[in-house]
Amino acid sequence: MPINFSKPLIWKDGILEILDQRRLPEEVIWISCLTPEDVAIAIKEMAIRGAPAIGVAAGYGVALASNPISAIEVLKNTRPTAKNLFYALDKMKKGIEEKKDLLSLAKSIEAEEEKRCLKIAEYGLSLIKDGSSLLTHCNTGPLATAGIGTALGPILLAKDMGIAIKVFATETRPVRQGSRLTMWELKKADISAILIADTAVGYIMNKGLVDAVFVGADRIVKNGDTANKIGTYQIAVLARFHKIPFYVVAPSSTIDIDCPGGNKIVIEERPKKEVTTFNFDCLNPAFDVTPASLITKIITEDGIFEPQKITEDYRE
Ligand code: MRU
Repeated sequence: MPINFSKPLIWKDGILEILDQRRLPEEVIWISCLTPEDVAIAIKEMAIRGAPAIGVAAGYGVALASNPISAIEVLKNTRPTAKNLFYALDKMKKGIEEKKDLLSLAKSIEAEEEKRCLKIAEYGLSLIKDGSSLLTHCNTGPLATAGIGTALGPILLAKDMGIAIKVFATETRPVRQGSRLTMWELKKADISAILIADTAVGYIMNKGLVDAVFVGADRIVKNGDTANKIGTYQIAVLARFHKIPFYVVAPSSTIDIDCPGGNKIVIEERPKKEVTTFNFDCLNPAFDVTPASLITKIITEDGIFEPQKITEDYRE
């Protein structure tokens, strides 16, 4: 794979270095994490974010601990919605029980996610037509994954293969992952990218400017309902209205086979200061749930799935 991408975290000499995504794109600053608590703060305060990336960071957080079992508890209580965090922590817990080397285990979680992203990109590529215009929401590239990306993976691969594409990136209020991180990654990859306000999605769809939507996921549950960044649901509704395919792109580590439906997903609520500096009452959900019925296909490292049937195919 010839594509170059930068990692949001690096393990170096017993320290986990995390790229502070809150400062991007203005400043490139790394945070040195020496303890699981440092990693937990970086996850909770979104210095590192994106479902697979927080799972990978949490794995290293456990490897940093003198008491790995209590580190798991600390890291569990950071962000509730992304399944990948709990997937990685379950793996680390099993590793503790089996007396495995925890650093090697954390490294293997990172390597697995990187491999998954590549497979996802290859499957997703088959859904991208030459000359098409795609819409994406939030940030799903290397910064969010520790690999080539989820929804952004096929897009980066398409560019690498010389397929002509244009990408509309939503701003993604309130944290602006789209305007700060996705635009940064798309520009670095020299992809034709246009930033829009979240409120402009209906406008550009109505004008016929969007051929397909590619988004990531934080949790995909048994019936195919999918939690992703707040605003995803309204994009899916608009895509259905305008008869535009809506693709969810995620690794299998995002799938929660034990959760029966989207109404059971715990949605993280974030501080109101992300939305307003005034002392107003404010609701700031970080994610919403898109019902399976609005999703055209789900793409994982194992193939392209009908949303309602995804967990049938993943049942052990
Ligand atoms: O709050 P964030 O920035 O962690 O939310 C990220 C997203 O919602 C992404 O779309 C999702 O994690 C999938 S991408 C890898």
